[in-house]
Amino acid sequence: MSRVRTAVLVSGGGTNLQALIDAKNAGKLPHVEFCAVISSRSDAYALERGEKAGIPVFVAERKGNTQEAFEKEILSILEKEKIQMIVLAGFMSILSEDFVKRYPRRILNVHPALLPAFGGKGYYGLHVHEAALARGVKVTGATVHYVNEIADGGEIILQKAVNVEPGDTPVTLQRRVMEQAEWIILPQAAEMAANEILSQ
Ligand code: GAR
Repeated sequence: MSRVRTAVLVSGGGTNLQALIDAKNAGKLPHVEFCAVISSRSDAYALERGEKAGIPVFVAERKGNTQEAFEKEILSILEKEKIQMIVLAGFMSILSEDFVKRYPRRILNVHPALLPAFGGKGYYGLHVHEAALARGVKVTGATVHYVNEIADGGEIILQKAVNVEPGDTPVTLQRRVMEQAEWIILPQAAEMAANEILSQ
C-alpha cells in the first residue's frame, strides 16, 4: 500500500503532533507516513514527542535567521526526505509565498478558531482564544485548511465547533478546542489530503 511521505512542522508543545502519532498508531492514517518532524525552535517539547515515536527530528531555527535562510533549511530537509505533504501543527511562523507555491494543496494547517473568524496575522496560539473571549462569541472551534499565500486564507478542509462556557479563560478555552476539535479533525484531514495526493 502506498503512503504519502509527510513532514510535521512544529514550534511548541506538540499536542497536535501527538494526536497525529496516536491516530497513526491506532491505524487511522493508513495512507500517511511520518518521515520528519521539523521544529522552528530547538527547545520545543514536540521534538521529544517525535523522537519517542521514532520519527526523524530536525531543527530549523527561526530565531537569528532571515526568513530566506530559515526556509532554505526547511526545504533542504523536505527534499532530502522526499516529503510529499506538510502538516503545520502548532507551527508559529508564516511561510513565504515562494515557499507555499512549491507545495500547492500539499500543506495543511490547523488553526484554533472557525475561520475566517479570528485568523490572519497576529492570530496564533492563545491570542486567538483571547480575541474570541473579548468578542464574546458563544461558539468557536478549529479549522484545518490548505495553506496558500494568504495567512489562514486557504481552502478549508474540515471544521469543528466547540462551545464557549461561562467563566472560560483563554487557557481553558484553548484546552477544550484542542480536545474537542483540533486533535480530532487534524488527523482526519491529513488522511483525506493524503488520499487526494494518491489519487492523482
Ligand atoms: C494549537 O492550538 C494550534 O491550533 C495553534 O497553536 C497551538 C499549538 O499547540 N496554532 C496556531 O495558532 C497557528 N496559527 P501544540 O503545539 O500543542 O500542537
